[in-house]
Order: sequence, then structure tokens, then C-alpha cells
Amino acid sequence: MLQPIIIAGGTGSRLWPLSRELYPKQFLKLDSELTMLQSTVARLNDISDSTKPLIVCNEEHRFIAAEQLRQLNKLDKNIILEPFGRNTAPAIALAALYALSHGDDPLLLILSADHLIKDEIAFVSAINNAISLAEDNKLVTFGILAHYAETGYGYIQQGGAASDNGFFVKRFVEKPDFKTAEKYVSSGDYYWNSGMFLFKASRYIEELGKFSPKILMCCQDALSEINCDNDFIRINKDIFNSCPSDSIDYAVMEKTEDAVVVPMDAGWSDIGSWSSLWDISIKDDNFNVHKGDVLSYESSNNYVYAETGLVTTVGVNNTIVVQTKDAVLVADKDSVQDVKKIVEQLKILE
Ligand code: GDD
Ligand code: MG
Repeated sequence: MLQPIIIAGGTGSRLWPLSRELYPKQFLKLDSELTMLQSTVARLNDISDSTKPLIVCNEEHRFIAAEQLRQLNKLDKNIILEPFGRNTAPAIALAALYALSHGDDPLLLILSADHLIKDEIAFVSAINNAISLAEDNKLVTFGILAHYAETGYGYIQQGGAASDNGFFVKRFVEKPDFKTAEKYVSSGDYYWNSGMFLFKASRYIEELGKFSPKILMCCQDALSEINCDNDFIRINKDIFNSCPSDSIDYAVMEKTEDAVVVPMDAGWSDIGSWSSLWDISIKDDNFNVHKGDVLSYESSNNYVYAETGLVTTVGVNNTIVVQTKDAVLVADKDSVQDVKKIVEQLKILE
């Protein structure tokens, strides 16, 4: 039995001002009629032998998450609430411990709520390719062949064959600097870590206990005082407060000796920034993406979003313009990773 876990507690700050603290990107409709969370849930329909997904998100977003699941008929006391974000290692630990206490040791399919996947058949087939490896106590990550030097991703160096469809991980490096990323990409030997994983719940807990025992202990203690109301599973706030913050990538995947990679070629992208949104969108003849009421002259390679009223550009290239009712962003398309710096400054000013 496969238990999908959707981690949906990120802040999406690089997509400000559309993505806001109270309404981050995973709850937005960015590329389809469904929100990113809903697309992630809907994508699971073709996986046989899987249970309803468990969602782990921040308490502040509980009603948004619940309503979005309800619209898909997938709401069923399956939302674990974190009083504070402590990154993905604790979020996954809470889900793994909860799953272990509610049944046999299931295979957990960890999915991020901020991914776009164009080829759902290839997605399902990669998951099927990974099942026997996960059953064999491996921690499977799904790898996307790295084709440019993106510093926002983890990199996986492929080792020898672990099965017909998977490889041992020789090295896992989370978010290397640009030069290192360039070296990895030109070697042709590296995958991007997709941020999707498959492993037994018990196996993750075992490895987390080995490498980050404090995270495991805090999650165990926080869950021992569980409180379920309506659709939500709540944990002890004071105990979780003392949980260290770390991602699964740094806390477990870089360190474990049992990681394997299963390649996935499913038209995957992480819609992490405005340039990645431009990348996946349909463009006009001048390579512009226009959303809303936008008019442009002699402008190219732009992403322009108008929420209220008209936005126009003249002689502007390679630029992001996002206008919402209370904030406007104008950014060079090559600097979009730094949009989060504006969000940090705004927090200081608050
Ligand atoms: N519940 C919960 N709590 N979810 C969280 C938290 C948290 O504290 N922090 C992040 N998430 C969720 C996000 O909503 C997203 O769905 C997922 O976890 C991944 O977090 P990101 O913040 O988007 O991570 P990233 O994109 O910087 O890096 C990860 O994904 C890359 C691919 O997209 C890493 O796994 C990289 O190695 C990987 O290449
Ligand atoms: Mg991401």
C-alpha cells in the first residue's frame, strides 16, 4: 500500500507579490484550472493501490487547504497542521510517524505541492519503477536529468545499477553554488533532485534518528499529544517549537548510504520563481507572457501580470512586472531568485 504525503507548508516567497504569507503559491492557480495543491492531489488518481493523501501544512492555511481538498472530494481528516514551519525533514517525520501509528509500515510517496508535471503517464511509471527498491529498504529519490546550472536544486551523482530502473546514489549535494552546478551539468553525470521521494515510513524514521535525533524526538513528542478536530490533526505546539529546522535533503538524503535514484522524464518543473513561470508559459511572437490586461510595444522576453487595470510596457526586455492591488514588482528576469530578499526586508519593516 502506498501512502502519498503532500508537503505544502512552504512560503513561496520568490513568487511575491502574487504568493503571500497568507496565501502562498501552492494554493494558487498558476498554470491550470486547479491550484498547485489540487493538481498534486489529482495526479495521484492514476496510481493504483494508494490511499488518500496526507497533507502537511501550516496551521494558518488550514481552511484554504481543507476547502481545496473538499472541492476534489479528498477531504477526510487528512491534514496535519504545523504551528510553525520547521522545513521538510520534520514535516515528513510527522507524516511518517502518524502513518506508522495508523497501520502497517506503508511506503510513503513524498510529493511537493509546488511542482508541474506534464506527462502523468511517465510520472506514474517512474513511481512503479521505484516500488521494489523502496520495499527493499532503499530511500528513493526521483531524478530529473540536469540540463542547466540551477542553484536552487539538489544534485545527484549516479552510481552503479541498483535495479533495472534505478541507480545507487554516489553523491547527493543540496543546492551547490553556481560554479559547482555548472561542473555537475557539463559532466552529464548528474540528476536534479526532484524533491519527490519514496521510502518505507520506518526507514525514513530510522535514518532521521541516526542523523538528526533531535528532530525525531521533537516530532515524536509533539505527536504524542495529538488532537484531532474536524478535518485537522494538530500536534503539541510548545514541543514542536523546539524542533530544529532542516530540510530532508540536508538532514537525511545527503547523509544516508541507502539512497537510490530512479530517473523520471515527465516534463517536470518546480515553479519556484517568476522566470520558471515564464519558462513554462505559452509565449507570444516576442516571447512575452501576458496575464490580464497588458499592452506592450517593442518589448520582448517579459512576464507581465496585471491584476487590476491596464499594465503597459515600452522598450522593455527580459523583465518581470507583476501588479497586484497593493504591490508592484519590477525585476530583471536574471535576478528573480532575489525576490525573496524583498520579502525579507518587508518582514523587518512590519
Ligand atoms: N509542511 C511543510 N512544512 N512543507 C514545507 C515546509 C515546511 O516547513 N517547507 C517547505 N515545504 C514544502 C513546500 O511547500 C514545497 O512543496 C516542498 O516542501 C519543497 O520545499 P521548497 O522550499 O520548495 O524546496 P526547494 O524547492 O527549495 O528545494 C527542494 O526541492 C527541489 C526541487 O523542487 C529540495 O528537495 C531540492 O533538493 C530539490 O531539487
Ligand atoms: Mg520548491
